[in-house]
Amino acid sequence: MKTKITELFEIEHPIIQGGMHYVGFAELAAAVSSAGGLGIITGLTQRTPEDLANEIRRCREMTNRPFGVNLTFLPSVTPPDYPGYIRAIVEGGVKIVETAGNNPQKWLPALKEAGIKVIHKCTSVRHSLKAQSIGCDAVSVDGFECGGHPGEDDVPNFILLPRAAEELAIPFVASGGMADGRSLVAALSLGADGMNMGTRFIATQEAPVHDNVKQALLAATELDTRLVMRPLRNTERVLKNAAVDRLLDKERALGPKIKFEDIVPEVAGVYPRIMLKGEMDAGAWSCGMVAGLIHDIPTVKELIDRTMAEAEAIIGKRLAGFMRA
Ligand SMILES: Cc1cc2nc3c(=O)[nH]c(=O)nc-3n(C[C@H](O)[C@H](O)[C@H](O)COP(=O)(O)O)c2cc1C
Repeated sequence: MKTKITELFEIEHPIIQGGMHYVGFAELAAAVSSAGGLGIITGLTQRTPEDLANEIRRCREMTNRPFGVNLTFLPSVTPPDYPGYIRAIVEGGVKIVETAGNNPQKWLPALKEAGIKVIHKCTSVRHSLKAQSIGCDAVSVDGFECGGHPGEDDVPNFILLPRAAEELAIPFVASGGMADGRSLVAALSLGADGMNMGTRFIATQEAPVHDNVKQALLAATELDTRLVMRPLRNTERVLKNAAVDRLLDKERALGPKIKFEDIVPEVAGVYPRIMLKGEMDAGAWSCGMVAGLIHDIPTVKELIDRTMAEAEAIIGKRLAGFMRA
């Protein structure tokens, strides 16, 4: 399949693995890239720029295909060493960066000067247009279904994607709720040039997370995610568990008075315990509604190959079959 996204990133299939905290290590990124998609290492999961440089080296040893690095810009009192992380990316020869969170404008010149292509993750048409206007090469449009931070507008992909297609000149991928060939064809129909998957890639053999996390995704249905931190305007879609129940109780009890400090036990520093140690009730972790469509733990290559085969069959047989001769 050839789309503006496969051409832009010089990949075989229009499938991207979005950055995921404590999931997007070299093993997963390399597996996705080797299978013809675009794998992404999560920059901030690496504690220092030196660690990121090392992770990039490890990934390069595992694949000779292009891969990217995710840089998430979050509001924080003591911001991470972003210039250091960017140096590690540039010096590591990485040519694709997925930015997310705050407007990446401040960091674009350093990336562009190094010939890096930037895809910015957006949850609205207005943010997508902003990304286009500041010089991003593509956007990843994240609908309300997505795992992680869906923003505060709550527009699902059936509306968001065609709206993005109406307004954008740069290519975009559909993100949020994507699981298989059906998702890919739907995304292309709605105007996207490919798809980005997060949650689905966690339930693969190569995802270097504890088996408990994969089993939790198999057990979950589309009804099992919750939105947390809405009162803080930092909404996150997570898998329901004991910590999330506690967090939501606090939100109800404290109402608009709630502060980040009130929920620190449920959200701060919980990812290593969940993803690496498999302590499934340690805190809130991002998970998309697409969990309801996850029924197995294939290898990344099996997942990508069957997605492409299914997409081709839908386009060539099912859809073509509806047309009268
Ligand atoms: C466990 C998990 C961690 C994530 N961490 C990040 C992150 O650190 N930075 C980021 O930009 N997006 C992050 N995301 C969002 C994904 O990159 C992607 O946009 C999202 O998962 C797409 O929705 P889906 O889960 O329905 O496929 C995370 C998602 C999950 C499920």
